[in-house]
Amino acid sequence: MDERWRADLALWGIPDEIAARARTNPWGHSPARFAERTDRALAEPEGPTRARIAEALPEGGSVLDVGAGTGAASLPLAASLGELIAVDTSAGMLAELESRAADLGVPLRTLVGRWPDVAARTPVADVAVAAHVVYNVPDLAAFLAELSGHARARVVLELTERHPMSWLNPLWAHFHGIVRPERPTVHDVIAVAEALGHRVRHEERLAPLSRFATLEELAESACRRLCLDAERADEVVAAVVRLDMWPVPRDRWFTLWWESK
Ligand SMILES: C[S@@+](CC[C@H](N)C(=O)[O-])C[C@H]1O[C@@H](n2cnc3c(N)ncnc32)[C@H](O)[C@@H]1O
Repeated sequence: MDERWRADLALWGIPDEIAARARTNPWGHSPARFAERTDRALAEPEGPTRARIAEALPEGGSVLDVGAGTGAASLPLAASLGELIAVDTSAGMLAELESRAADLGVPLRTLVGRWPDVAARTPVADVAVAAHVVYNVPDLAAFLAELSGHARARVVLELTERHPMSWLNPLWAHFHGIVRPERPTVHDVIAVAEALGHRVRHEERLAPLSRFATLEELAESACRRLCLDAERADEVVAAVVRLDMWPVPRDRWFTLWWESK
């Protein structure tokens, strides 16, 4: 199961000759963009992920947020949080999270590092959450096993149904003649978690927001992801219109959860 996941994910790799042309990291995430997402989640806390964390969190309890980014999945629980433990490979993301946690008065411990590598020096929490991280994780079984091992009550995952870069697939074919994979999907994540012995429950919905507010925003992102120079943004816009890709349909988001006892 885990080997299949690893192999399917590896097929998303960008061919070396294309990656060599990239001026910026095609897989990079912008802390500023994620901070906007967190601010929206704080202004209007909602959704099944928040509800599933809240119902397992004792008053004043702790949450471990792995791949926390700027805190979109955990900071909306601020009112009942006794401690937030945030793990991320990106110090830039954690800096945005830190300033928001301070404003909200949430006691915070941060660890810069890759999960599960930093698991041994991470404290156990009541609830462990990882939102929009697993498609970045080749060693999924170890990632999930350590998450469960660090949750006294419940593990909650949030993820898109398909790989989050799937919306770009027609543009990969158009600009590079490359057919991108269909797998893995959320159903593979469920299978890996079940193989670890968990009874996985899930809830799905449309993403609360569309990916891009404007075609210009889309083109900027697509140029980076496709390793195209930013000057080709107009070409990307023309292709998006011709391929009938605008507006980009909203993703389906899944919340998965299981009890860790
Ligand atoms: C798409 S962002 C999601 C951030 C946040 N959870 C949210 O829902 O807005 C993914 C984050 O996970 C981090 N990340 C990816 N793989 C990781 C890993 N194995 N261990 C720790 N952090 C990871 C990235 O640096 C990034 O901040």
